[in-house]
Amino acid sequence: MTTDYDPIAEEYRRAKQQPWRSHIEAYTLDAMLPDLAGKAVIDIACGEGFYTRRLRQKGAARVLGVDLSAGMIDLARQQEGAAPLGVDYLVGDGKELAFDAEFDVAFAAYFLNYAHDRNELRQMCDAVARSLKPGGRFITVNCSPMLDFDPARSYRQYGFEAKIQGALVEGTPIVWQIFLDDGSTIEIENYYLDQQIHEDAFRAAGFREVYWRAPKLSPEGEQGFGRDFWKPFLDNPTVAFIDCVK
Ligand SMILES: C[S@@+](CC[C@H](N)C(=O)[O-])C[C@H]1O[C@@H](n2cnc3c(N)ncnc32)[C@H](O)[C@@H]1O
Repeated sequence: MTTDYDPIAEEYRRAKQQPWRSHIEAYTLDAMLPDLAGKAVIDIACGEGFYTRRLRQKGAARVLGVDLSAGMIDLARQQEGAAPLGVDYLVGDGKELAFDAEFDVAFAAYFLNYAHDRNELRQMCDAVARSLKPGGRFITVNCSPMLDFDPARSYRQYGFEAKIQGALVEGTPIVWQIFLDDGSTIEIENYYLDQQIHEDAFRAAGFREVYWRAPKLSPEGEQGFGRDFWKPFLDNPTVAFIDCVK
């Protein structure tokens, strides 16, 4: 189990092919994004650039992807080399971003859930807020603080399982087991922080408005798999979508 993506960069890239990623995760995030035409966008914890490329394809004028993992950034740069979009990538810690009100939109898919405690979450939110212009938007998806970790509940049909050990308190490790097409498995560790801790960190960092958005299912996902297939996921979503305005 790891929080270091260097050894699993290629496996994680393949994990983004699971149907829930496009039919729920990307579909919901797309609906949350403002018009990006002419905008400067930063993708924090960008990984191999799954969303970074999409943000540029949606018309952003400048897109910068930042990730702690050199292996992930290598994969992102390889893809930029093979099919150039004009996206820049940087290896760096999202807690220590050195940008001062440069971006219109900050985007982050699975960044905040690497905070071990409220202080680290606050550092992350401060860094995001500092990078944004006044009025800028922070669009993010993370492991849901509202998720009920009932051991009887399974997400195996979507290609993953979530487990905790012990009581759900600040910093409890959450282990995500992801099942890949070739039969192999990767495990990733995040940390639990409740919804109030998130709210407090957003407000303290200077976000004036904070909206928690429900996951949406794409019409193609509903037609292709049927509503019943998605019901357990939509009834107890593992992910939470948040939209903040500076
Ligand atoms: C689950 S992956 C998500 C990657 C990408 N956002 C996506 O959705 O495909 C989480 C990423 O967060 C990165 N990460 C974790 N902590 C970070 C930090 N403090 N600063 C920047 N990146 C970080 C990891 O290296 C990893 O690439």
